Amino acid sequence: MSRNEAVIIRSVLTMSLHTPTAAIIEKPFGTLADGRGVDLYLLTNDNGMQASITTYGGIIVSLTAPDRNGVFADVVLGFDNLDDYLAGHPYLGAVIGRYANRIGKGTFTLDDQTYDLARNNSGNHLHGGIAGFDKALWSARPRSRPEGPQLRLTCVSADGEEGYPGRLDVTVDYTLTHENELRIDYRATTDKPTHVNLTNHSYFNLSGPGGRDILSHEMLVNADHFTPVDEGLIPTGEIREVEGTPMDFRTPHAIGTRIEDDDEQLQFGDGYDHNWILNKPDTDPSFAARVFDPTTGRVMEVVTSEPGVQLYSGNFLDGSLTGKEGKAYGRRCALCLETQHFPDSPNRPEFPTTMLRPDDVHETTSIYRFLAR
Ligand code: GLA
Repeated sequence: MSRNEAVIIRSVLTMSLHTPTAAIIEKPFGTLADGRGVDLYLLTNDNGMQASITTYGGIIVSLTAPDRNGVFADVVLGFDNLDDYLAGHPYLGAVIGRYANRIGKGTFTLDDQTYDLARNNSGNHLHGGIAGFDKALWSARPRSRPEGPQLRLTCVSADGEEGYPGRLDVTVDYTLTHENELRIDYRATTDKPTHVNLTNHSYFNLSGPGGRDILSHEMLVNADHFTPVDEGLIPTGEIREVEGTPMDFRTPHAIGTRIEDDDEQLQFGDGYDHNWILNKPDTDPSFAARVFDPTTGRVMEVVTSEPGVQLYSGNFLDGSLTGKEGKAYGRRCALCLETQHFPDSPNRPEFPTTMLRPDDVHETTSIYRFLAR
């Protein structure tokens, strides 16, 4: 019996103790240039919702959700083969680390020592650098949990990787719950003081990618404030009220309503590419945002323990990428809601800290919940 068959049988057996339909199936997804094998795991919950996740980059390759008639569709951008991911892409579905979003000039000072990070975005550091967690090969362990099937991914980032101090041990648990949630629990520990900010970079289109853009999706963001940026999308340090700006999503409305407004912030991002400061009483997971697609009735709610969320409206997509089922990914054909600490926090002592010390454990949770109406 092959290793894959053994995993499939074991997974289905353990799942059947809890539920008749939930399962995890593993299959090979390809090979890296250095010969290491990459796997793809298909998680199915009790309702038939499915997520497929690859050990390359911890990438969510597909995620299905029911519309108002109970019809499932894949709601994330991705490729159906490993080679397309290896050819390069804008972080589709990937785990982002060590630091999601930007660090200005790719440098920070910690305990009187200055660290130079990889500069991969106009002189700044973006999404962990040149070879961030989106390009790591993660170890995987499928698990049966009462809430639903879970894939535990782990990786070790060596001391000095992409310029960061400390060896970082990282665990990402993806759980596809029977409540139709994709729950992501992040955990990291270090052996030297360092900075950590982990997220997932899924691109969503609730109509199903490759057709309509997301400008008619209705958005609500539970935030009274955002962090304005400069031309390089680095926060200026100002905490600005959303009131009276195109960033005001406190009542739901179509994303496209004000995206073309004559507004300096929108010009810097070529649309929405900003961090909202969530209205949060504490660091427990709480409601961050809701997206509704009037065409299909699909709703996605985002719940997070993080203090911020980056809404990126797919402004840099330009039709040059062809994804699953041969569909081209045009400008604003999908949106990201990247739960996170604020960009450039290592250089902004006034922002919630991203510092992690050896005696501490970095633990955050983000949940993408799917409904229909
Ligand atoms: C993030 C950034 C964007 C862009 C995308 C990837 O969302 O904020 O500016 O780099 O990733 O293209």
